[in-house]
Amino acid sequence: GSAMETEAKKRAAYMAVDKYVQNNQVLGIGSGSTIVHAVKRIAERVQKDGLKVVCVPSSFQARQLILQNKLPLSDLDQYPELDLAIDGADEVDNDLNLIKGGGGCLTQEKIVASCAKKFIVIADYRKISKCLGEKWKRGIPIEVIPKAYLPLTRTIAARFGGVAELRMAVSKAGPLVTDNGNFILDWKFEKVSDWKTVHCSIKMLPGVVETGLFIDLAEKVFFGMEDGTV
Ligand code: A5P
Repeated sequence: GSAMETEAKKRAAYMAVDKYVQNNQVLGIGSGSTIVHAVKRIAERVQKDGLKVVCVPSSFQARQLILQNKLPLSDLDQYPELDLAIDGADEVDNDLNLIKGGGGCLTQEKIVASCAKKFIVIADYRKISKCLGEKWKRGIPIEVIPKAYLPLTRTIAARFGGVAELRMAVSKAGPLVTDNGNFILDWKFEKVSDWKTVHCSIKMLPGVVETGLFIDLAEKVFFGMEDGTV
C-alpha cells in the first residue's frame, strides 16, 4: 500500500486502541496489515503506562505478532470470554457488515470476534462501501473442507450465481491452505440483496466451514481517512 494508506491504518489503529483498550482486559487480536499498528500501540502502552492485558490471537500471524511485541499470549481455552476484539476488514458497508478473509484467516477471526463482549474494526478509507462487493473485487472468501471444494464451487455457482474459485498459494504450486488445514473459495457474486440469508444458506452447505461475511458483529469501525482524520 501507499504511504497514505499506511498512515490511515496507523491512525485508525492508534485511536481505536486508545479509546477502547483498558487495564486488565483480555483482548482478541485480528490479522492483516492494519492490526500490526494496533498491536504496536498496545505494546507501547504496556511499556510506557504499565498497562496490563492478555492477548488471544486469531491466526498464526497474530500469534507471531503478539510474541514479537512481547505481549502475554493466551487462548480461548484459558479465556473463553474476551473483553474486546480488534481486527481489520477488507470492506465495510453502512450497516457495519464486513467482508473479511483476504488474508485467509476468517474462521478463527470470526470465532475470536464472537467470543468478545465488544468487537471493533480498524480500516483505511479504501474499505468504505455502500454496498458489499463495491470495493473488494476478489470475491467473498469461503473456507471449505478440502475434499468438498469442487462440489462446493459447482453448488455455490448453481444456487447463488457468479463463480467460486479455489484460491491458489502464492509461492507454491497448488491451493492456499488455511491455518486450519482447509481451502478457500473466493466467490465472485453477481447480485446479492440479503447478505444474512446468503451467509446462512452458504454456511449450511456440507463442507463449508465459514464465510467471510461478518454480519451484525462489529459495534464500531474506525476509518483512517485520506485527510489524516479518523
Ligand atoms: C484476514 O483474513 C482478513 O480478514 C484481514 O483481517 C483483512 O484482510 C484486513 O487486512 P488488512 O488490514 O491488511 O487490510
